[in-house]
Amino acid sequence: MDSIRTLFSAETEPQQPCLPEELRGLYGGDLRFPEPPIGRPYVFANFVTTLDGVVSFNMAGRSGGVSVSGANEGDRFIMGLLRASADAVVVGAATVGAVSRGGLWTAEFIYPPAKELYTRYRAGLPRKPEHPLIVVVTARGSLDLNRAIFRTPGIRVAIITTDRGREKLVAAGSEQLASTRVHALDAADDRIEPGAILEVLTREYQVRHLLHEGGPTLFGGFLASGFIDELFLTLAPQIAGRVNERPRPGLVEGTAFTPATAPWLSLATAKQAGSHLYLRYRKQT
Ligand SMILES: NC(=O)c1ccc[n+]([C@@H]2O[C@H](COP(=O)([O-])OP(=O)(O)OC[C@H]3O[C@@H](n4cnc5c(N)ncnc54)[C@H](OP(=O)(O)O)[C@@H]3O)[C@@H](O)[C@H]2O)c1
Repeated sequence: MDSIRTLFSAETEPQQPCLPEELRGLYGGDLRFPEPPIGRPYVFANFVTTLDGVVSFNMAGRSGGVSVSGANEGDRFIMGLLRASADAVVVGAATVGAVSRGGLWTAEFIYPPAKELYTRYRAGLPRKPEHPLIVVVTARGSLDLNRAIFRTPGIRVAIITTDRGREKLVAAGSEQLASTRVHALDAADDRIEPGAILEVLTREYQVRHLLHEGGPTLFGGFLASGFIDELFLTLAPQIAGRVNERPRPGLVEGTAFTPATAPWLSLATAKQAGSHLYLRYRKQT
């Protein structure tokens, strides 16, 4: 992997580092997260976009983030590091559908070369089981329960859905899955309130640090509700373009802000490897 260099940091380096030395070397510095706010997890999101803001080529077999990042090693290393830091990873149903059926939201799945480093780092963090809880959000409940996430020992899954979604999942066999629980919540127009999702994750799973891996629809809802505390954004040095007939999603879909309501973020760190940029932003308070 090209070494990741820190170009800018607004952080003050703590006396006691969080990351073990080898991970600090690969990441080009330390990584720490604040304590969660009272009553909900601290939420940090992670995306990769092209220079023109596209997160998916929206082409059969090429819709995932890997085509956007160019399977960039630095991006995959950081994804793994963020997963290793999280109690849970939340994704929307379309993001689940865009990855291969064997896809897992674990640190070593996305970047196997650092598996041992991630495992040792995670083992030293308080209250962390071997892998983060995977949280899938779906109103309709049309999930393929034969995917690896629902069938891999040691992987716990929480599906957050509606009454209608739960009925569909039960009919598809969700109650036979050993480590998957289904939670039905109220939804207006098929949109479950992000606050209600966070409430379940806090109450039922004691989630303190939640990694949000999108997609753009789920992310837009969280952003509009004010629940995105940080955004890790990899900027891949390619330009995807768009045509109206086959839309390509940007970072946010299904939510639009005005100049008066658009959230502004503060740059926390800017890192680089080759021509990829790895940006970390914090919500402005
Ligand atoms: N480049 C990147 O970093 C990155 C990251 C993530 C995703 N992506 C790409 O983004 C594309 C998918 O975009 P997307 O916006 O459709 O993804 P998404 O947000 O993962 O999925 C949308 C679906 O999630 C469910 N959902 C989202 N918010 C909900 C809410 N508040 N309440 C209930 N259900 C909710 C609904 O599922 P149901 O329809 O089942 O009800 C909705 O149709 C894929 O191509 C994926 O690869 C790229």
